[in-house]
Amino acid sequence: MDKASAKIKIEKLSKELHEHNYNYYVLSRPAISDYQFDIMLKELMDLEEKFPELSLETSPSKRVGGSITKEFDTVTHKYRMLSLSNSYSKDDLIDFEKRIQKLIEEKVEYVCELKYDGVAIGLRYIDGNLVQAVTRGDGTQGDDVTNNVKTIRSIPLKLKGDYPDDFEIRGEIFLPLEAFQKLNEEKKRAGEQLMANPRNTASGTLKMQSSKTVADRGLDCYLYYLLGENLPETTHLGNLKKAGKWGFKVPLERDRMIEKTNSIEGILSFINYWDNKRKSLPFEIDGIVIKVNSYEKQELLGFTSKSPRWAIAYKFETEQAVTILNSISYQVGRTGAVTPVANLKPVSLLGTVVKRASLHNKDQIEKLDLHIGDEVFVEKGGEIIPKVVGVNFASRPKNAVPVKYISNCPECSSTLLRKDGEANHYCTNENGCPPQITGKIQHYISRKAMNIDGLGGETVEQFFKAGLIKDIADLYSLDPTKMLSLERMADKSVNNIIKGVKDSLKIPYEQVLFAIGIRFVGSTVAKILARHFKNIENLKNATLEDLISVDEIGDKIAESVQDFFRDSNNLNVISRLKEAGVKFAIDESGEDAGLEKILVGKSIVVSGVFQKFTRDELKKTIEKLGGKNVGSISKKTSFVVAGEKMGPSKLEKAEKLGVQLISEEEFIQMIS
Ligand code: IVH
Repeated sequence: MDKASAKIKIEKLSKELHEHNYNYYVLSRPAISDYQFDIMLKELMDLEEKFPELSLETSPSKRVGGSITKEFDTVTHKYRMLSLSNSYSKDDLIDFEKRIQKLIEEKVEYVCELKYDGVAIGLRYIDGNLVQAVTRGDGTQGDDVTNNVKTIRSIPLKLKGDYPDDFEIRGEIFLPLEAFQKLNEEKKRAGEQLMANPRNTASGTLKMQSSKTVADRGLDCYLYYLLGENLPETTHLGNLKKAGKWGFKVPLERDRMIEKTNSIEGILSFINYWDNKRKSLPFEIDGIVIKVNSYEKQELLGFTSKSPRWAIAYKFETEQAVTILNSISYQVGRTGAVTPVANLKPVSLLGTVVKRASLHNKDQIEKLDLHIGDEVFVEKGGEIIPKVVGVNFASRPKNAVPVKYISNCPECSSTLLRKDGEANHYCTNENGCPPQITGKIQHYISRKAMNIDGLGGETVEQFFKAGLIKDIADLYSLDPTKMLSLERMADKSVNNIIKGVKDSLKIPYEQVLFAIGIRFVGSTVAKILARHFKNIENLKNATLEDLISVDEIGDKIAESVQDFFRDSNNLNVISRLKEAGVKFAIDESGEDAGLEKILVGKSIVVSGVFQKFTRDELKKTIEKLGGKNVGSISKKTSFVVAGEKMGPSKLEKAEKLGVQLISEEEFIQMIS
């Protein structure tokens, strides 16, 4: 074939291949088979090889990749690439709409669209040819990634129809979920590190040196913003629709991916629709973008230094957030168990700001391969404190230092110990390590243990620091004058503490045994042990065999009980508690012997008039069963036993706080 015929053939094949590309990747409506497409492409590439001077920068063969970019050129954006201001609540949107409506008196038309979760790109077209593709960079300058972008099939290399001779169009390059999963499956098979999420993968892919690899990854792109002096329409949506005609992939009104509205209700309806539907999209979105449609009004509203005043992004609530790991601290609990905690750059997650996340133990840190400064993924599970679930290895700063687990207690410097088969490290300085001491006292006074009212966790720390208490037995010899000398301590609080301590002498032995904090002895095990061995002396003298012979008591608990009584410090505390009058034997005398204390830990309000009992009888029953009678309803109230004529204010309060009301009959059933 001579050069002239080759030129004609190359032009014909290019035009057809561009059209087939468009049909397949933009319209999802292929007109020929993949095989036919490949034959045509091969023919074009053969001709280009024979006549390299005829090969064009916008040839469909550029889709296959092949060029290598060692370093991307830095390019200054013709128009600065700004970002959007974010909103996280519907109230923020209502404010946005009000702000705009205040500045512009007529009705404003808005365009709602998806916020694609990928990487921003600016594409420059001159005479219908893609001439440059630049990343956002710092907004002023970005990287020239043209060769890589040319491999993205849904981005036209040549435009059709009546396009402006010079303009820029911006959009988001993303990796569809299917392509992301395929890539990770391949990586898994090859034993390579998996990619963290589609967004980071898209961003990493766009900056790869080999455009062939980029071509194979399957990136895609939606366009959302046009800039230029000769745009055909005066509205955002109008131009976007035109761009669709020139060959760009733009959202379609038909699929409700873009929608015009002139009310806040319309905006909120679009948001609700996609909040429910977003999981069914084949790519990830992280919110909705709302833009003023008219260019004239956009101009009136203008820009702040960072973002346009005529647009806002609404971010969906996510179960996962990305943030930076600043440091790790180590907490020591009452048992001496050390828990590592991640200190994070604050990030919003499901309505709260997260600053700390749990890391469980040393193995977990090693499994995550955490380095200080890492970008980490944080999730809220069932627990209150969120957890770190992964690391974005792609963004790890150079020279990042791996987390080195501590070998000494952060509170008292004792060497940490890890017993065989246990996940946690322990500080063994049980009687000298401050958080272990205060932790034990806090456990002792807690509701399910000795239920000492008036004394809270912070006060315990205050007393400990002031030298008023160093173990649980000291609670029974607290000096009121010394307490009063401390900050925030008034007569009333001191009296409450003294009363609470005195009342704790009535707490049955089962609960005391739980309160003294023997490791692995929870409230149920404490009950079993108390009832079996009857008193603390018997328990102390029990052999390992005696202990194991009890139903539900295994080696671990038995050993822990023996360890506890081997510690002279514990024996000393118990003898002082005994002296103070704390119960160390099961109460088998009297009518209530053997009564199951099913209301332990419950704060109950009795209100109204009853049929079968007097109010006092009900209150006595509650006390006998371990419950606590309280006069007024609060968040802490477990339930209200409600009779007839219960006061309306009480009723209202219970409803407001969501405290359960139960009838006399229901209460009788509960306790019988
Ligand atoms: S418009 C001047 N529309 O979100 C306004 N941005 O911080 C230009 N994004 O960097 C942006 N979907 O990468 C616009 N439909 C959409 C978008 C969108 C995703 C990204 C974009 C931008 C960031 C906003």
